Formats: sequence, C-alpha cells, structure tokens
Amino acid sequence: MSETLIGQAAEILRKNDLGDYTVPTHGLYPFQWNWDSCLTALGQAHFDEARAWTEIETLFAHQWEDGMVPHIVFHKEDEGYFPGPDVWGTGRPVPTTGITQPPVAGFAVLRLFQRAKDRELAERKARALLPKINAWHEWFYRCRDPQDTGLVAVIHPWETGRDNSIDWDEAFERVPTDGVPPFTRRDTQHANPDHRPTQAQYERYIWLVQKFRSLEWDNTKLHNASPFRIVDPGFNGILQRSCNDLAILAESLGDAAIAAASKKRTARGIAAMEALWDARLGQYKCYDRVADTLIDSPSVAGILASIAPIPIERKAAIAKRIETLTESAPYLVPSHDPTDPRFDGLRYWRGPVWLIVNYMISDGLRLGGQPHIADRIDQSSLELIEKSGFAEYYDPATAEPCGGTTFTWTAAMVIEILAGSDRAAA
Ligand code: GLC
Repeated sequence: MSETLIGQAAEILRKNDLGDYTVPTHGLYPFQWNWDSCLTALGQAHFDEARAWTEIETLFAHQWEDGMVPHIVFHKEDEGYFPGPDVWGTGRPVPTTGITQPPVAGFAVLRLFQRAKDRELAERKARALLPKINAWHEWFYRCRDPQDTGLVAVIHPWETGRDNSIDWDEAFERVPTDGVPPFTRRDTQHANPDHRPTQAQYERYIWLVQKFRSLEWDNTKLHNASPFRIVDPGFNGILQRSCNDLAILAESLGDAAIAAASKKRTARGIAAMEALWDARLGQYKCYDRVADTLIDSPSVAGILASIAPIPIERKAAIAKRIETLTESAPYLVPSHDPTDPRFDGLRYWRGPVWLIVNYMISDGLRLGGQPHIADRIDQSSLELIEKSGFAEYYDPATAEPCGGTTFTWTAAMVIEILAGSDRAAA
C-alpha cells in the first residue's frame, strides 16, 4: 500500500515540476510559492537530492535586498491567476509579490542537510543558503518586530498561509475597501467558490496590497502603516523552529556568529510566546497588535506552534487539546475548532484539514515526547489520502476533498510520512 501511495505522490511531484521550481498545482496556482517549495523539497529529496536543493535555491534567488523572501515568484506570465504582477507592482526584475510567507526554510534545509546521502553537495548547498536564511530571519525581527518584543507580526492574511482564517475576521473589519477597482477573481474559476474565501475578503486583501504598493513596498514603513498587524503563534512557532534549526546548521558548518544570533532569537521568541498561551483551551492564541488584544478564536495556529521548541508541558497540553478535538473531528487536525459556531468544514482555512499543518504539528509533538498523538495525526493524514486522493485540503468530518487536486505539498507530505521515518531524529 505504502509503495503505491509513494509512487502516486512522486508522480504528482513530477507532473508539477517545471524544471527548477514546482507549482502547487497547475491552473489554480501557476507560480512558485514560498512555503510550498520548502516543504515540497522534503518530498523531492527522497528521489533526487540535487533537485530538492534546487527548489529552495530558486526561491532564494529572488530574495529581496532587505532580506525578505517573497510569498510568490511570478517566473512566467499566466493569465489564470489573480492578483498577478501588475497588481503587486513591486518592480522586481523577475516579478514577485511584496509580502512573505511562513519561514519554513530553516527547518527544511536542516532536515535536507542532516539526511543527505550526497554530503559534498549538501555541505555546498547549505553553506550558500545559510547566510540567506539568516538574513531573512534578521529581516523579520527588524521589520516586523520594531518594538523588539521577540514576536513578529504579519501585515496581510496571505502571509500566514492561512488566508481566510476566522482569526482575522474582527481585525479585517478595520481594513477598508474604498478605492479597490472591480476585478475578476480566477480562483473561483478553478475551484468550487463555496470552498474559497468570500468576495468581501478578497476586496480587503486587494486594499492592503494597494496600500503597501502606495508606500513603494518600503519595509521600514509597512508594519506601522498596516491596519492589520497580527501576531500569529503558528507563524512565530515556525520562525522559532527555523531559528533553532539554523543554529544547529550554523554550528555544523562552523559559523559561530549565525549560531549565536539564531539561538538568541529562538530563546527570546519562546519566552515571549507565553503571553499568547490560553490555559483554559490548552493552546496559544493570536494577538491583535493594533487593538492590543488576544483574539478569541480557537484555530489551528495555536496548535501549530508545537513545531517550535516550546516547553514540554505546553506540548503535553496541546496533545490533550488535540485529543479533545477528536470528539468533534473524525479526521485530524481541523484548521478551526468544529464546536465553534463560525467553523466551516469546507471553506479553506475555516475548518478543513491541511496535510502540511498535520506534518508540522506531528513533528513537533513527536520531538516533545508525544508520539502517541503524533502517530494519530499521521494516521489521519494517510486515511484522508486513501479515501480522497491528493487534494489541497479536506473536510474533517467527512474527508471530502476540497480546493485544488493533485496537490504538490500534499504529495510531498505523504512521502515524508511514509518514507521519512528518520524525521523526528533532527
Ligand atoms: C493558498 C494557501 C497558501 C499556499 C498557497 C499555494 O493561498 O492558503 O498557504 O501557500 O495556496 O498552495
């Protein structure tokens, strides 16, 4: 069974491979996405290590001078996606968007490096990527934590990778829509509109893009100028894990300065996360930096934070929290608590299960001494695939496949779950 699934997953990776980068799926997402690529490389490495390194190298070839790594690289024109390069207007030689995405690169690169069979290649590639990933981390703390709190904010929901989460609903009310010209969405032509964000949300997404564009994408200004500034525990947890892993990588490669700076960032971030902990729920919550308040929304962000080296008692509480979720979600881990009336099992990040999120939670909990729940999450991931194929996301109640099909990072995660048995050793 697992051989067949690995074969099917490998076939999807091949079909979506455009040479030196991989599209998330043809049609719906025809370019290179940041965190998709880094997680995809983990799957590719099982068949072709050189190709896996290239995936991440291509992304970093488009890093901005200030250190930011953009959320999409528009390698070639494609009319099938909105908003395309003309809307972003970032003026890059190869167009990119002007916002970023969850920084999984540090985590993925350490894993590729530690597992590599071709040691010479791995050392060369990792050595070249090390300062670039470090510059991205530095950028985060400089531009997205100007008050030096230890936690970074996102300024657009697309940065979190959880585009239409219930977490943003209230803060999004502050984002106006005036001055947004009429536009034609393309996503709803490729996927069921009931599974996608609403029109009202899209208008606000575009308003923010226009606002940042009017400031010429100057990252010294964007944070304070955005009416949407959220501290997301999942996003910060990923950053802390990547800083932690970059420190390990830097030590292996003999770069004491990057190792020390990365360790410091991790420790500060983890200490600051305590302010986001909700003891009643047993998970972290998002914080609205503009309204200065915790956001009352039990989403997967506060569970995904378990990817970070947070204290083991926090991981144990999160494991319990997931146990509770099994009572309302036959398939783990829902992107929002099904007992919340705002939950929607089919609509993108308002309820469905995403395999990449499952993978990262499972990894963090396994490392935190919770193998039992980690195994259950992996098992759910595989059940979803067997029942419903390699979809973009799934209804946690029925396993109904939603969004795009033949999805790259879903396939990569299946390979990781089935073939990457060493993954918790990192
Ligand atoms: C959607 C997801 C985002 C992902 C992108 C490409 O926008 O919300 O997380 O990176 O699709 O798969």
